[in-house]
Amino acid sequence: MDFKHIVVLTGAGISAESGIPVFRSETGLWEEERVEDVCFPAALRKNPQKVHDFYNKLRSNLKDKKPNAAHLALTKLQVEGQKQGKKVTLVTQNVDDLHEKAGSTDIIHMHGELNSILCTSCFRRYPYFEDSSLNSVCKFCGKETLRPDIVFFEEMPYQLNKIGKALNECDLFLAIGTSGVVYPAAGFAQAARQVGACTVEFNLTPSAVRSSFTKAYYGKASETVPKFVDELLEGKLSFN
Ligand code: APR
Repeated sequence: MDFKHIVVLTGAGISAESGIPVFRSETGLWEEERVEDVCFPAALRKNPQKVHDFYNKLRSNLKDKKPNAAHLALTKLQVEGQKQGKKVTLVTQNVDDLHEKAGSTDIIHMHGELNSILCTSCFRRYPYFEDSSLNSVCKFCGKETLRPDIVFFEEMPYQLNKIGKALNECDLFLAIGTSGVVYPAAGFAQAARQVGACTVEFNLTPSAVRSSFTKAYYGKASETVPKFVDELLEGKLSFN
């Protein structure tokens, strides 16, 4: 089948084989922190330095992490797909930089980025690679009101309009390494189905929204995704 507009949604599972822990696993929640202490607006109000320190650690941990075969396959899909007249919209829930390191472009980081900072006074967001603290100064307005550019629970994800438009226009939707429990991203497959797109899930096991997918591949993303991308680019995919 010849697909013209592909929307890809990635989650923590695509980066797991690069050594970045997923959020939800059988052994519990990530990084020995309670979500309430580092992932909610109330945590930022109550103990802002703890929140800065937590994301400083995650940002610093990114330095030696490398993209794996799944990230690289998505770059190939963007580059080679474009030569075939395919538009590929890459949306990630991940705050890491592995899609960038793999060479992908126009990445929509709907849950923010570790390598970015947000000013709560002037609301500018800009690239940031150092540790941040309560005393870090916004390069635009000069105020000491910077916070990690991470979308917390209870906050609005970024670029939902752009994502919604892409979902409305897509004929193929791929969800890679996401548990399907955090909305709105968990509802994207259903939205794509409603406009007649084929929807494909890549995971180790069925996600919470398995029923939204027309097809699924279970196994490591570093194995399933490159094979799928090659078959797609060679026009060998069949959805029967
Ligand atoms: N290959 C494919 N899938 C994998 C792999 C792998 N090698 N390893 C793990 N997975 C799958 C798991 O089975 C799980 O379904 O990746 C998924 C990871 O799920 P989560 O940890 O819940 O991550 P994600 O879906 O990205 O979380 C969504 O929740 O906490 C918030 O904002 C945070 O963006 C995050 C959002």
